[in-house]
Amino acid sequence: MRYRRMPIEAESPEELGYDTIKCNLAESSVSDRNWKELGIIPSDLKLAYTDHRGYLPLRELIAEDYGISPNDVLLTPGAAGALFIVATSLLNKNNAVLVEHPNYATNLETPYAIGCERLLLPLNFEQQWKPDRKKIEKMLNASVQLLSFTQPHNPTGRMLSEVELELLSDMAFDNKSYLLLDETYRELSAHPTPVGTSFGEHVISVSSLSKAFGVPGIRMGWIACRNKELMELFLAAKEQILICNSILDEYVAWNCYVNKAETLRAIQQRNNNNFGVLKSFVESNQMLEWVEPKGGVVCFPRMIDSIDTDKFYSLLQSQYKTMVGPGHWFEMPDSYMRIGFGWPDEKEFKHGLDNLLACYQQIKQKD
Ligand SMILES: Cc1ncc(COP(=O)(O)O)c(C=O)c1O
Repeated sequence: MRYRRMPIEAESPEELGYDTIKCNLAESSVSDRNWKELGIIPSDLKLAYTDHRGYLPLRELIAEDYGISPNDVLLTPGAAGALFIVATSLLNKNNAVLVEHPNYATNLETPYAIGCERLLLPLNFEQQWKPDRKKIEKMLNASVQLLSFTQPHNPTGRMLSEVELELLSDMAFDNKSYLLLDETYRELSAHPTPVGTSFGEHVISVSSLSKAFGVPGIRMGWIACRNKELMELFLAAKEQILICNSILDEYVAWNCYVNKAETLRAIQQRNNNNFGVLKSFVESNQMLEWVEPKGGVVCFPRMIDSIDTDKFYSLLQSQYKTMVGPGHWFEMPDSYMRIGFGWPDEKEFKHGLDNLLACYQQIKQKD
């Protein structure tokens, strides 16, 4: 494995220090919740190894939602852990992955670290960040073991329709490949598409509680797939990496998931408010143009005029104490930026957007 640190992690708010940022528009999740608010006191919880597939009551809830069996669910340390298990189980130096670009950095970086061939499927603004079917067909060949897509997409918030997902699933099947759907933002879409597992046994769904439930600190995610052999392989990988998850993480996750409907309703309300603020900001200023996001809590607009982006991001941080995700976090030009609208409260969010505009105008005047 050829490990390198990814800019999105090395420059992340938690690495920079949350106390250095006043307006945090760089997060891709909803606000973090605290322990007290969850009201969980696991006083009689035995701190033992857990079921290697993961805490059964939680797997049962997820399985019920997905219409699959609990053994089709493997709990993992976050979606990040799930993606690592899938990539290292299926990819090697002699095969290839077809993966969307831009993307959540890990979906590009782990295949690089493994040393498999990476067939990067370019997405672009002009095509609403949608994958081009003809390009996929040209890129597919017998060495492609995995097609890797993110739905809803990070950093753009793009959603594929059910028909488009079905088409991807069919293309993967016909090529004798697996289809990975990273569905980490699924619960943050007003109109979620069917879960990946419903399209066939060759489709692998990955998700987690981090983004939608505001509990990234418990590191709880999962792989869902109806292919028994694959699930056995993923279990073997999990056992070699960590045997099982932390029982504390699993117990907290289960408590969050039991109250899913109520929790998500409140969170969605707040996301909708901030989204309204963002939409009117983008539409009423001559700073950014965007493809309106359809799912999740991030979007990936670009600056209309070209400015010195190094100066812009440096000033934004030093003078305005405001943070967004610059394009290079996603191997894209820094004229693009990811704005997260689920994490800050409305006041911080509005202030952050004002700062963004003021900083942009300040740089433009100097240029
Ligand atoms: C698309 C996507 N997948 C997976 C992850 C990893 O999430 P976690 O490991 O916190 O569940 C992220 C985090 O930003 C993400 O954006």
